[in-house]
Amino acid sequence: MISRRDFIISGCTACVLTAAGASLLTSCASPLPMIKSTAGHSGQLIVDPNSFVAGKGNLLVVRTKQLEYDILLVKDPEGYHALYLRCTHEGVGLTPVSNKIFCSAHGSAFDLKGNVIKEPALHPLKSFPVEMVSNQIIINIS
Ligand code: FES
Repeated sequence: MISRRDFIISGCTACVLTAAGASLLTSCASPLPMIKSTAGHSGQLIVDPNSFVAGKGNLLVVRTKQLEYDILLVKDPEGYHALYLRCTHEGVGLTPVSNKIFCSAHGSAFDLKGNVIKEPALHPLKSFPVEMVSNQIIINIS
């Protein structure tokens, strides 16, 4: 038979583990918003500017079948920047978070303009030209 003391200790342990798990799930449950882009003319992707979600740092992951890896579309006071989420070290897919882009392969990190902030990568991320046409964001990937 389990003692009252052991019962309370095991109950508290379960509560702590549950709270820790819920916290972990919360952090995992808030990825950046992602859209699947519609293709425009050859070599162009069309993104609706309303796809940006308030409170998510003006970042949007754009997925297209035309590229092997996603694009991170960054909206800042200078306009829009489209960064290819492929590491310039050895070509692994990158993970963007609210303030940087990192590579889980060897630890490289990039800022939201694509500049290297942590090696071993030595070169900035590839970027694609972006323009506004008829209130639509056009990313030129050709
Ligand atoms: S492939 Fe990204 S750091 Fe090596």
